[in-house]
Amino acid sequence: MSRHSIGFFDSQFRNQVTSGQFALNPFEELALPYLHGEVLDLGCGLGNLALEAARRGCRVTALDGSDAAIARIREEALSARLAVEAHQADLLHYGIDRAYDSIVCIGLLMFFPETAARAALADIARHVRPGGVAVINVLVEGTTFMGMFEPGHYHLFPRGSVAEAFAGWEIVADSFDTFPAPGATLKVFDSVIARKPAA
Ligand SMILES: C[S@@+](CC[C@H](N)C(=O)[O-])C[C@H]1O[C@@H](n2cnc3c(N)ncnc32)[C@H](O)[C@@H]1O
Repeated sequence: MSRHSIGFFDSQFRNQVTSGQFALNPFEELALPYLHGEVLDLGCGLGNLALEAARRGCRVTALDGSDAAIARIREEALSARLAVEAHQADLLHYGIDRAYDSIVCIGLLMFFPETAARAALADIARHVRPGGVAVINVLVEGTTFMGMFEPGHYHLFPRGSVAEAFAGWEIVADSFDTFPAPGATLKVFDSVIARKPAA
């Protein structure tokens, strides 16, 4: 796939596969205890969360644009007999096809222009089953590291806007984390875990 945001990660993932770097990141660690049932992981990357959720009993559908990532997930799921289906997909204008108990979207939506990012957030909210959870992690305003972005093709969410997209849900977690980035820049993340009211 030719998208800048996919190519950037695809070459990074190839190096990680070669060197065997498969650690969960802090956002994935935060999400895991809340996942249950059928899980959709949008922008799953190398699948560290998808595979670990399956080890803990979830049935996972993992989608990403990187073919290196999808190949790694399929290989690991097959050899460890884990309930993970992984598919390569361009998620920019993707429509979720059915309901899930848990939908995870860590580190993806900031690579979409604002209209598409907001539409994807609303699509996620619509497809979580009653009593289920959405896990969203995005870069927010205040981020000054632009190295991953294609000019004009990204969205830094205003602070608080992710939780607002889940109005009426229980906001289980909403945390802001700032990390230093190359060139004395910053990455500022918002991580939201929201539970949909039971029917
Ligand atoms: C910051 S990484 C996050 C990966 C993983 N969720 C994690 O937490 O490690 C962003 C991911 O989004 C994927 N991605 C970016 N734009 C995409 C698009 N348009 N369609 C599908 N995947 C995309 C990249 O391939 C990459 O795996």
